[in-house]
Amino acid sequence: MRGIFIVMEGPDGSGKSTQIELLKEYLKEQGHEIIVTREPGGTVIGEEIRDIILNPSHKAMSDVTEMLLYAASRAQLMSEVIGPALEEGKIVISDRFVDSSIVYQGIARGLGIETVSNINEPGIGIYKPDCIFFIDISEEEGLRRKKEQKKLDRMEQESIDFHHMVSEGYRRVLSDRDEVVYIDGVDTVEHIQNQIRNALHVRKFL
Ligand code: TYD
Repeated sequence: MRGIFIVMEGPDGSGKSTQIELLKEYLKEQGHEIIVTREPGGTVIGEEIRDIILNPSHKAMSDVTEMLLYAASRAQLMSEVIGPALEEGKIVISDRFVDSSIVYQGIARGLGIETVSNINEPGIGIYKPDCIFFIDISEEEGLRRKKEQKKLDRMEQESIDFHHMVSEGYRRVLSDRDEVVYIDGVDTVEHIQNQIRNALHVRKFL
C-alpha cells in the first residue's frame, strides 16, 4: 500500500518547521504513523552532506557542486527513508523537497530548471509529493525572523537579491499546480496550522 507524501516548501524563515511539528502531533493523535524528514539531511549520510553545504566557511563552493550535494542528500533520503516509508503506507512529511533545488539552484543560482530536474530524477525515482504546502513570505520578513532565531548559515548569508529571486521563484514554480496548497506566511501560527489541516481533509488525504 502507498502512503501519503506531504512536502512543506517556502523561503527561509517561512515557518515550515513549526508547522511540521504541529502537524505531526495532530496526525499522531489521530493514530497515523508519521515520518518527518528534512532536506538537506534526514539520514546519517545526508546530515554530513548538510554540514558541508551549509558551512559558512565554504565560500569556495561552486554552484554546480552545491546542486549536486543537495541532489545527493535527496537521493540518499529517498532510498533510505522516504521510499520505504511510503511503501509501508506511512505518512511522510518532508521539510523541503526537489522544488527547493528548482528554486534555489535552478532559478536563484541560474543553473536552469531543466538541468536541476534532470540531475534529481534518478535519485527521486517514481515518488511524487501528493500535497505540497507553499508557505509564502517576503525575503525581508523571512530573513528578519531567521536573524532573530540563530546564526545565519551559508545560504541564509546570501544577498537580499538572491533571496528575492527565491521568493519570486517559488511563486512562479508553485503556481497553478494541483498538488500545491498556497498559504500566506504572514498569519498566526494557529491559523496557518488550521489551513493545513483543513486542506488535508478537503483533499481527502485524511
Ligand atoms: P532549511 O533546513 O530549511 O534551513 P533551516 O533549518 O536553517 O531553516 O534549509 C537549508 C537551506 O538550504 C535553505 O537556505 C534552503 C537551502 N536549500 C537549497 O538551496 N536547495 C535545496 O534543494 C534544499 C533542500 C535546500
